[in-house]
Amino acid sequence: MKLDSLEDMLAFGQKIATRLQGGEVLELVGDVGAGKTTFTKGLALGLGVQGTVQSPTFTISREYETSSLIRLVHYDFYRLQEAGIMADELFEALNDPHNVVVIEWSDSVAEVLPEDRLTIAISLVAGDETAREVSMHAGGVASTRLLGEKA
Ligand SMILES: Nc1ncnc2c1ncn2[C@@H]1O[C@H](COP(=O)(O)OP(=O)(O)OP(=O)(O)O)[C@@H](O)[C@H]1O
Ligand SMILES: [Mg+2]
Repeated sequence: MKLDSLEDMLAFGQKIATRLQGGEVLELVGDVGAGKTTFTKGLALGLGVQGTVQSPTFTISREYETSSLIRLVHYDFYRLQEAGIMADELFEALNDPHNVVVIEWSDSVAEVLPEDRLTIAISLVAGDETAREVSMHAGGVASTRLLGEKA
């Protein structure tokens, strides 16, 4: 799927948000500046998060309460060579059915991730600074529901 603008990316995140019930895991894949955090901002908008979603680049994780029982937990493991204690924290977050867990740069925690997760790959489009190519893969029942109608 091709998204033409930043606004389209936010709208895409908002659309996915409408399908969330809690307990879902979203793995965001893509280069630096692809739009993983921007997508998460759209997700947060759709979930009714108050205030600004900031990249967890330095804090590794950030949590947001939403307008429902869902809690948005956003990770960025870019700076982590070894998951260590963060893998334990992630594991706990994954086991709370109220949490929607979003992960950027998941390589170091790959073994902790459940198979039932929605992997969203975002890539830049040559010659168009605001366009992004997006593809999705669902690994189980809960993540397949996030794909919507055609799933
Ligand atoms: N269609 C688009 N979708 C997403 N971001 C876009 C789009 N067009 C332009 N941008 C810009 O691209 C940048 C994406 O940055 P963002 O922080 O979301 O990337 P990221 O994938 O999270 O990077 P990092 O790996 O560093 O965390 C932002 O500056 C955003 O404004
Ligand atoms: Mg980011």
